[in-house]
Amino acid sequence: MIDFHAHILPGIDDGAADLEEARKLLVSQKQQGIETVVATPHCMMHASITDFIKARDAALELVKREICEDIPKIIPAAEVQLHYGFTKRKHLEQLCIAGTNCILVELPYDFWNEWIYEELYQLSAKHKLRPIIAHLDRYITTTRNLKFVDKIIKSDALIQVNAGALLRFSSRSIVKAFLKRDAFTVLGSDCHNTQNRKCEFLKACEMIKKKFGEDVLNQILKNGEKVLQNKPIHRDAIE
Ligand SMILES: [Fe+2]
Repeated sequence: MIDFHAHILPGIDDGAADLEEARKLLVSQKQQGIETVVATPHCMMHASITDFIKARDAALELVKREICEDIPKIIPAAEVQLHYGFTKRKHLEQLCIAGTNCILVELPYDFWNEWIYEELYQLSAKHKLRPIIAHLDRYITTTRNLKFVDKIIKSDALIQVNAGALLRFSSRSIVKAFLKRDAFTVLGSDCHNTQNRKCEFLKACEMIKKKFGEDVLNQILKNGEKVLQNKPIHRDAIE
């Protein structure tokens, strides 16, 4: 299993504060059956890409050097904050999930303007990158709000859903609506720590299996493997 969204690298963002917290998170992920973690520290608006990569890679090296327990393989990536003019920047490919042309993008939480769709379009048109929208579930509160994300769903973007969305009754209906619209590509824990934002990936997988069936779960897990292999994703809406 691959966790596509995790703030496990120590001391780099609001995720794992130190090496010990990183260790606890990674051990917990391994115990849940996660073999690969896509490490996605926040790359904030206007941050220098070079500085970000340097800090991220140093944190990853520290983890590899200092943690001797059996932990998942870690793939370096980023959770990139989309902003107006983002696609005018150069070397965005450095922010991709390593070995792929996919970039995990966090959208604004306030009112969405046309520029968002234009930036997403330019990511593929100009930079030949494929956006993965981070936790699309977090931008809407009820299925009635689906119209706000409809344009995203109909675009070429892939969609990551947070494990937490499966575990709350209120947001599970949103996940169901995503599945019906073929808008749930990969699952991520979005874990930050072992207290209030822990990794609940396995629980979410069990919930998917229970509520939507084993085939749906297998499809989502297989999508994750395809993303890492840079293979095309075949998306099927779930009835
Ligand atoms: Fe995140």
